[in-house]
Amino acid sequence: MRQNCEREPRVAALAIIASCGSFLAGCSFSERVEPVPVLAKDPHSCARPMEAVVTDLSLRVDVDFVAKTLRCRAEWSFVRQRSARALWLDTRGLEILAVRLRGRDESSERDATYELGAADELLGRSLRISIDDSTTAVIVEYETEPGAPALQWLAPEQTAGGTAPFLFTQSQAILARTWVPCQDTPGVRFTYSATVEVDASLTALMSAGRRGIVEAGESRVEFSFRMPQPVPSYLLALAVGELEFRTLGPRSGVWAEPSVVDGAAWEFADVEAMIASCERLFGPYRWERYDVLVLPPSFPFGGMENPRLTFATPTILAGDRSLVALIAHELAHSWSGNLVTNATWDDFWLNEGFTVYLEHRIMEENYGKAYDDMLAQLGRDDLERTVGELTTGPDARPADTHLKLDLAGRNPDDGMIDIAYEKGYLFLRTCEEAVGRERWDTFLRSYFDAHAFHSMTTELFVEELRTRLIGDDSALGERLAIDAWIYGPGIPANAAEIRSESLLRVEQQVACFVSGVAPGDLETAGWSSHEWLHFLRELPLPFDRVRLAVLDSAFEWTSSGNAEISCQWFLVAIASGYDVIDAALERFLRTVGRRKFLEPLYEALLRTPDGATRAHAIYARARAGYHRIATDTIDALIGFQRGTVGP
Ligand code: BES
Ligand code: ZN
Repeated sequence: MRQNCEREPRVAALAIIASCGSFLAGCSFSERVEPVPVLAKDPHSCARPMEAVVTDLSLRVDVDFVAKTLRCRAEWSFVRQRSARALWLDTRGLEILAVRLRGRDESSERDATYELGAADELLGRSLRISIDDSTTAVIVEYETEPGAPALQWLAPEQTAGGTAPFLFTQSQAILARTWVPCQDTPGVRFTYSATVEVDASLTALMSAGRRGIVEAGESRVEFSFRMPQPVPSYLLALAVGELEFRTLGPRSGVWAEPSVVDGAAWEFADVEAMIASCERLFGPYRWERYDVLVLPPSFPFGGMENPRLTFATPTILAGDRSLVALIAHELAHSWSGNLVTNATWDDFWLNEGFTVYLEHRIMEENYGKAYDDMLAQLGRDDLERTVGELTTGPDARPADTHLKLDLAGRNPDDGMIDIAYEKGYLFLRTCEEAVGRERWDTFLRSYFDAHAFHSMTTELFVEELRTRLIGDDSALGERLAIDAWIYGPGIPANAAEIRSESLLRVEQQVACFVSGVAPGDLETAGWSSHEWLHFLRELPLPFDRVRLAVLDSAFEWTSSGNAEISCQWFLVAIASGYDVIDAALERFLRTVGRRKFLEPLYEALLRTPDGATRAHAIYARARAGYHRIATDTIDALIGFQRGTVGP
C-alpha cells in the first residue's frame, strides 16, 4: 500500500514553496494539502531551512576499520526560496574534501564555493554552500575523524564473538553532523538512499529498507539501502559487524552477533503482539518493517529508536523477558518521535513523554494492569527523586523540571532526564484520567494521523489540546492545569495517582526483612525483576553488611545476570561498604557501557575516599571501552571530583 509519506520529495517540497509566500507562514512536507506551521528556530543548528531545505540524501560510505574513518560522498537534493543564495549544513569534525553543485542538467557537476564557519565545541562548524538558480543538489565529499562522537569503533575483543570488529552510530541528539554534513535539526525531514562498502565478512545495516548486496572489489561488498519515509537527521543510523538475523514475525525480526541472536529472539518473542497493540491504539505502523539490532555492551543507551531498526543494549537480555518494556518504548517511538517529531530539543518531552505513555499502554495490553502499575510506580519514584535533586540544594535548576525547556547554549543531552520521560508521561496520564480513556484515545489517534511525518512544537500541541480536547469545557481546562505542567516546576497537584499493589506488598516484605525475618521466610514467590528492584531500592542505607551477606547467599545477586538488579545491588553494597561485590562490580563496569548504569555507580563510588580511588582505578582501565557519550558524562563526574579530566 502506498503511504502518504511515500511522496516524491521534490514535488512535495516545491508545493510548499508555491503554497507559502513565506516559509515561516506555514508549509507541508507531505502530499496532504493542509499546511502545517513551520517550526521554531532551532538553537542547536545553523541550518536555515526557511531559505533552502534538504529533501533527499544520496549517501555513499566506505567503512575503514583500520583508519577508523568513514570516507563518504553525500548528495543533498533541496528546495529553496527563490532568493536563497546558500544552502547551510551542520558539520562537526568532518574533513571536507570537495564540494560540488549539480545543475538542472543532471549529468554535470561543478565545483562549488563554500565556507566553513568558526568551530563551536558543541555545535561544530556551519558549512555554507553558495548556490544559484540552476542548482538542484549539492555534493560533499568528506571523511570522518577517528574520534567522531557519533561513531563507536569496537575492536573484536569488545564484541561477543571476539573475532570481528564492530561499528555503530548514535546520531541523537546532535551527533549526526559528526558523520554526515546535514541540516541537523529535528524540524527538517528527508528521504535517503545509501550504499555502504565493508569487508565481505561483515554485514551493514541502516535505519532504512535493505535493497541488496553486490561485490565491490577484493573481499569487499557493498550494501544498499533506501528510506522512502522522510526522517529527521537524528534518526540516521548505521551499524557494521558480524551479524545474523532471526525472524520474529511477518514484519519483524532481530539482528545480533551469532552467539547472541537466539537468546535475543527468545527474549523478544512478543514484538509482533506489541506492534499489533500499538496499531489498534494509535493507527497503522507506517515503516513497513520493525527489526531490533542488539549491539555490543558498550552501547551507551538502553535503546535508540532508529526507524525500522531499533538499536538495543544487550543488558535487556535478562533471560526471563522481564526487561522488554524497553522494546515497547522504542517501538512506540514509531508513532511518538519518528512519526510526530519534536520540533527542537526544547520540545523533547513530546518525543519521550508520549513514548513512555504509549509504552505503558503496550505493557498494559500485553502483560496486564497490575504489571504495568508496577512499572509506572517505579517511574514515578524516579521522577520524585529527579525533581528533588533539581529543586533543592546549591546546584538546583528548577527550570529543568519544566516540560518545555530552554536548552539554547547547552547540550541537548541535558534534557535527557526523567522530567521529559516521567513528568511528560504523568501529564498525559493525568489528561487521560480527566477525560476518560475513550475520548483520550480518539484524540491521540487523530493527533498521530493529522501530524504524521511532521514536527510538533509544545505550543502547537497545547493549542491542539485546547481546541480538540478541551473545547469550551472551561472547568476541564482548569482541572488540567496545562500551564503548570508545561511551564511550571515540579509535579503539579492534580497529578494522576499511581499505586502498585504489588510494590506495596514488596514494601511490606522489606519491613519484615529489616525487622529480622530471614530471606527464606519472606513472601517473594513469583516476583519479577521489578519487585526485586523495588525491594533493593527500599532497603535503608547503609545496610548491615552481615545481613547483606545473608541476602546475597540467598539470592546470589553478586552474580546476577540481570543488569538492572546488578546495578541496584551494587549501589546498595557500595553505600554499605559490602566489598564482596568488588570483583563483580569491576567486571560489570569494564563490560557494560550503558550510561544509565555507569553514572550512578561511579557517583556512588566517588562518595568516599576509598571508593574514589577504586573509581579512578577502574575508570582508567574501562574508559577506552566506553562510548564517547558515556565518557563525556563520566569524565565530568571524575574530573569534577578530582579537578582533572581523568585518564
Ligand atoms: N531516544 C532515546 C535515547 C536518546 C535520547 C538518545 C536523547 C540520545 C538523546 C531512547 O528512546 C530512550 O529513551 N532510551 C532509554 C530507554 C527507555 C526505555 C527509557 C534509554 O536508553 O535509557
Ligand atoms: Zn525514548
